[in-house]
Amino acid sequence: MSTKSAAELAVPASYREPVRTIYEKSVPGRRAFVAPALDVEPARDLLPANLRRAQPPRLPEVSEPELVRHYVRLSKRNFDLDSGFYPLGSCTMKHNPRIGERAAALPGHAHLHPLQDPRRAQGALELMWNLQQALAELSGLPHVSLQPAAGSHGELSGLLLTRAYHESRGEREQRTRVLTPDSAHGTNPASVAMSGMEVVKVATGPGGGIDLDDLRAKCDEHVACLMLTNPNTIGIFDPQITKITEIVRSVGATLYYDGANLNAIMGVCRPGDMGFDIVHFNLHKSFATPHGGGGPGSGPIAVGDRIAPFLMRPRVVKRDDGSFDLDDAEDSPSIGRMRGFYGNYGTFVRAYTYIRSLGAAGLRDASVTAVLNANYLLAKLGDLAEYLPLAYGKLCMHEFVLSGAPMKQKLGIRTLDLAKRLLDYGVHPPTVYFPLLVDEALLVEPTETETRETLDEFAAAVHAIIAEAIEDPEIAHGAPYSTPVRRLDEAAAAKHPVIRQPIE
Ligand SMILES: Cc1ncc(COP(=O)(O)O)c(C=O)c1O
Repeated sequence: MSTKSAAELAVPASYREPVRTIYEKSVPGRRAFVAPALDVEPARDLLPANLRRAQPPRLPEVSEPELVRHYVRLSKRNFDLDSGFYPLGSCTMKHNPRIGERAAALPGHAHLHPLQDPRRAQGALELMWNLQQALAELSGLPHVSLQPAAGSHGELSGLLLTRAYHESRGEREQRTRVLTPDSAHGTNPASVAMSGMEVVKVATGPGGGIDLDDLRAKCDEHVACLMLTNPNTIGIFDPQITKITEIVRSVGATLYYDGANLNAIMGVCRPGDMGFDIVHFNLHKSFATPHGGGGPGSGPIAVGDRIAPFLMRPRVVKRDDGSFDLDDAEDSPSIGRMRGFYGNYGTFVRAYTYIRSLGAAGLRDASVTAVLNANYLLAKLGDLAEYLPLAYGKLCMHEFVLSGAPMKQKLGIRTLDLAKRLLDYGVHPPTVYFPLLVDEALLVEPTETETRETLDEFAAAVHAIIAEAIEDPEIAHGAPYSTPVRRLDEAAAAKHPVIRQPIE
């Protein structure tokens, strides 16, 4: 047996494989797959000569094991929900049950072509129709479109619906302002700008909810809509909600509910009952489908009767004979399509599987547990209030915001340092520096799918980092130490992103 320590025996990092692109690994002639020989005459004439390739495409030439290793290695360089706790506030990174993957992979779902004749896709249409019904029931708003590809896409759809509604009343020119609280998620003002309307911010009151006086002062005949999430991004359920919706309705504006935080209230209360007209759902949050990472998310919307005529087309409908169809009524005042085809179908299957496997009581239980877990964690961190106090209130809904301002002042470490050090403890950091109105914000959302042990481990890690910083703040300043990439130059990454590698 060697007398050397593990550290002495470790091979220098330079011997380990550097990160190379799949093109850099390419060697002419290597193959991961060989297609069977053609057993029909090639129909070369079908494509006009000027549209045919002059040369074969430049694809990487690698063997199958190299291909597998390349992508598995890359995936291991990242942090993911399947390898550790991911309390990224506002993002609801909860476990995606694998039963949803099994359902979505069934050949009848996975191989369905979007141009399939509706008469031959009855099962898929029925699933979509049932999902629409379930979302209508959960939101208290009866008309649903599954089209939007993300929450923010749902927001834009909702704002275009609002515009169409005001236009139908001859008020489009007059109603150009959309109110959003100053705690709103960044996508809210961005969607307003994309819809061509103007953002007007409403102040947050001392309790973390809307400042009613400020709301009253800004509500007039120029307001098109109020966009609100409740519980908001501070993790507070605004108890004045019916008062708020009353004030906004009294000036003829619509009410948009950003349903990204539905995870806290599913099966407990409904945006429709609170007085909202339009709501979006993030299926990739509340209904446990994978987050898209810019890919296949889903943000259906539900609307009330006064908005329904303008809803996107085509919609899935149930005919009197019990069959299902796509309704593309051309004479309707619909705003038309918001995307190609009908939405991200694979995500619908996962979300519907989630809803059916939990049932109404299970969905309610998920929300109640999300709130319980967040409050448990908040209590476990309560003795650190000297460094990381709760920004608003005493309790929270499914997430809470701590302020790292005292920690910065007393220990000389910032929220960013704490977040980076958490990576060394095998935890994805919570959201940092959002919401903007909290100095040195740390937004923690544990979700309902985590065990008490995981929450305890997280609390212990935060305690350990604070204790360490009391002794030596430099440790947190230099973190992370155990990740494939250390601290990045975030300003340079944002200003000069390298998102494409030349093939040469
Ligand atoms: C409160 C809130 N609203 C809207 C969104 C936008 O949703 P999406 O990321 O699906 O576009 C998010 C996403 O994190 C959110 O947290």
